[in-house]
Parts: sequence; structure tokens; C-alpha cells
Amino acid sequence: MKQFLAIVMALVTVPVFAQAGNVTVIDTNFENGIAGWGPRGDNRQGLEKLEVTTAVKHSGSSSLRVFNRTHEWQGATCKLAANAVGDMFGMEAWLYYKDGPAKVTFVFSTQKTSAQGQAYQNVLQVQANKGEWVQIKGEFTIAKDPTITDVQVYFETPKNDTVEFYIDDIKFVKLDPSLRPKAEVNIPNLRDKVPFDIGAAVSVDDVDFSSEWAQLLMKHFSIIVAGNEMKRDTVEPSEGKYNWIPADKIVDFAMNTGMRVRWHPLVWHSQNPDWLFKGAGATKAGLDQRMKTYIQTVMRKYRGDVDSYDVVNEVLDENGRLRNSEWLKIIGTEYIDNAFRYAREADPKAQLVINDYNLASNPRKRQGMYDLVKDLKARGVPVDAIGMQMHIDIRNPSVSAIKETIELFASLGIKVLVTEMDMSIYTSDTESKKTVTTTILQEQATRYRAIFDVFKEEYQKKNLDAVVIWGTSDNLSWKNDFPVPGRTDAPLLFDSKLKRKPAFDAIVK
Ligand code: XIL
Repeated sequence: MKQFLAIVMALVTVPVFAQAGNVTVIDTNFENGIAGWGPRGDNRQGLEKLEVTTAVKHSGSSSLRVFNRTHEWQGATCKLAANAVGDMFGMEAWLYYKDGPAKVTFVFSTQKTSAQGQAYQNVLQVQANKGEWVQIKGEFTIAKDPTITDVQVYFETPKNDTVEFYIDDIKFVKLDPSLRPKAEVNIPNLRDKVPFDIGAAVSVDDVDFSSEWAQLLMKHFSIIVAGNEMKRDTVEPSEGKYNWIPADKIVDFAMNTGMRVRWHPLVWHSQNPDWLFKGAGATKAGLDQRMKTYIQTVMRKYRGDVDSYDVVNEVLDENGRLRNSEWLKIIGTEYIDNAFRYAREADPKAQLVINDYNLASNPRKRQGMYDLVKDLKARGVPVDAIGMQMHIDIRNPSVSAIKETIELFASLGIKVLVTEMDMSIYTSDTESKKTVTTTILQEQATRYRAIFDVFKEEYQKKNLDAVVIWGTSDNLSWKNDFPVPGRTDAPLLFDSKLKRKPAFDAIVK
């Protein structure tokens, strides 16, 4: 048995780049010029500059210098391949900077062009220290979308940095088809094994019917929610100009496959467009109007299709008091009341949720949520449910704290939802990257099972309504690189090859 395990481990650790069936599509070390790399954007915004330089290199005698950047999205871009749609790729590159802040986050992203416009996806990120080369490496899929006419890959520093940087030894391969993940067919359907509706957070790439992730979703889940595409920075990038394309794709997928849709979120302090809290419309009355228009535009459009909304997200701080967000500062405490009232007016049938994190792990925040919702209910504000995000870890919070929290909230006469569950294998931000061993996976499985037993019990008591997992396969989880850049996590029910993890088996057993 031990020997068998060792062989399996060896197989999974063979670097994907070494596979015989791979086809190299980009291989640039800047020893012979700039190859296919160019600047991003157009002259209206002022182009940054690229040049091959011998001043700095990762290997050989030169690298690519990216300078004169005035926007964080400016970087170096290259066409991926002639027919990139529907393929899976492996990539690696080395990045470096020498002047600026002590740390910079480099992001590798894709840009897909179709008749509808451009879609950008941040794929991988890595944190660099000043003066040290850092490697970015990983795998990604370009959905099989026949409307895509061009795919570009690029490097940027999206966290408000316009530092000058260098790139070297870039390699992209189209992966051998045998290496591509495949959703398992002969396993139980998760959705049939739990009594409540079970959901997953997705990206627009996952819901293409040709994608294996779509197969996985249809088999196991009965609710979907967008991990990002329903956030206001995506939906309303400039005032009154809505981009419904990604959200529509996700909602259409759900309608075509008989799934429920949750909308996350309507009002939040994060992932908002730049204009929202600025300009003449950012007064108390103006911002309230911007909030109302948005809530009602979204909800009227999706009435009958989306049946549950995170109306407000993360309105509490860790002391259980109202978070000092722009919403609170500009509108005042009544923004929460108003948000729910506008939502109810737009769609009287939708489930209206107040959503937050650390509710089971932080007693002050739990109490703060209890007091807030009690007050909202007493004043007739239409709140239907409390959403517990449940971004938890392999040890904390305790199963009993989770149970008590659900019961406390339900005692207010409302439903509880688990809206964003995942279970990190790390218990602190200081823990460094570790290998995912069978011991860890087993520990995770046991804990997932114990928590799902509580969910089942609370569902039977009519306290809990539904459970949504924040992602499908580990490689797509937001917990990779967060909160610790460069640290990979494994918090979900399926691994990066879409194989069920012990946690899945423990739940369906
Ligand atoms: C996360 C997404 O999963 C990431 O892809 C994104 O970069 C940041 O946001 N609480 C929330 C979610 O309410 O919206 C967050 O989603 C995770 C924490």
C-alpha cells in the first residue's frame, strides 16, 4: 500500500511542462529581440514602453523592460495562440522590479476578444520583493466559446502600482489533452445526497457547456452564484452603462439547467467602480439614489430568475459595530434599511439576505449581527435571512460554535444561509505553504462531515435554508494567494483535476 501511494505521489508531481504531448505556444527569453510582445492599451491613454535590455536578466544576457507605465493594467501582452479556445495551458515566467515599494503584486491575466467586446480575467498572481526575481507559474483554461476571436496573455500590477518591471524566460504550453481535468461520472451526485439546496460559486468560464466545470456543476449543485461577475465594478463600470454579459451567461446557464441563482452582492464596500463614491452624485441623497437605481435595475431585470440576493454584504466590523464604509459615511445608518426596502419593492418574492463573515468565529460580530437584525426586524425592514459566509479553516471555529450561531440567528424568526463556505488547510496567516498530505485531507474530510451533519440537523429544524460552497475545484479557489501571496490552499470539495476529495466522500457517505 505504501509503495502504491509513493507511485501515485510521483505521478502527480511530474511537472506538467515535461509532458510529451504538450505543444509550446510561447517561448521567449528575449535573447533575440522582443518576439511577439507589445504594450497594452492605445495611444489615447498614453502607451507604456517596452525594450529588450541587458541591464537586468534572469538568464542569458537580456530581459524585457516595461516602463513609462501610467496605468496599473499596462504591461506586456502577447497573442496566446491561433486557436486557443477550448484548450488548457500551462505557463511560467520570471518577473522582477528594482525601484518602488518593498513588495509588488504581479498578476498574469488573459484578455478575450469577441464581437461583444473584451473580457479580462486575472488568472494567477505572485508577490515580489524588491530586487528579487520571482516566478509565476500555473495552469489555466480558455473556455470553448466560438465567439472568441483573439486571446491575449499579459502581465500587470493591478494593485495601484505603475512600477517599472522586467520579464524573462516566459513559456506557455498547450497541455497534452490527457492532462486536462475531467469531471468524474460514476460518483454520487452531491445534490442528491444532502437534503438542502447546495450551491457553488462560479466564474463565467465555468458555465460554458463545453467546460468540464459545467459538467461538474450540473451533476452536483442546485444553486450557482458568481464569485465576481455580479459585483458592481463588473456590472456597472461607468454610471448608467451596464455590462450584463457575464452575469447573463451565468443566469442563462442556471435557467437552462434548472438551477437556482443567488446574486452576490448588491451593496458592498469592495469591488465597486471608481465613480461610485465620487463626483456630484456622491452626496447623501445622490448616493442613496445610486444605490436605489442599481438595486432596482438589477432586481427588475432578473425578477423570476434570481431568487435570493445578498442585499448588503459585510456591513459589520470585527467589533460587531457598523463598518465605517463609504455607504455609512455618506448616507448614514439608514442605508441598510433603504437597501432592503428598495430591494423588496423591486422584487417582492426574492429572498433578501444580510451577509457577513466571521460570524461563528467572532462572538462580538455574531452578537452585532444578532442585534442589528433584531433591530431591523423590529422596525419592519424586510430582511429574510442572515448569510454566514463560512470562510473557515481546518480547526476553527468549533462545530458547536457553528451550530450555536445558526440557532441564535434562527431564533430571530428568520432563515440562515451558508453563502460562501470553504475550509482552508492553514490556521493562520503566518503559516507557510505546505504540501497537501492525505492526513490533512482526511482531517478536512472529518470536519466537513461534522459540519454538514449540523447543517442537516438545522435544515430539519427549519433554521437553515441552503449551503453554498465558494468554488468548485481547489485550483480556482480565492484562498490561493490570499491572504498570503504565493501560498496555495485546498479548501474545496474537488481537487484541481476535478477529482472528488475525501471531504466529498465524507459528505455523501
Ligand atoms: C472574492 C472572490 O472569490 C475573489 O475572486 C476576488 O478576488 C475577491 O473576492 N467575501 C465575499 C466575496 O463576500 O465576494 C469574496 O469573493 C470572498 C470574501
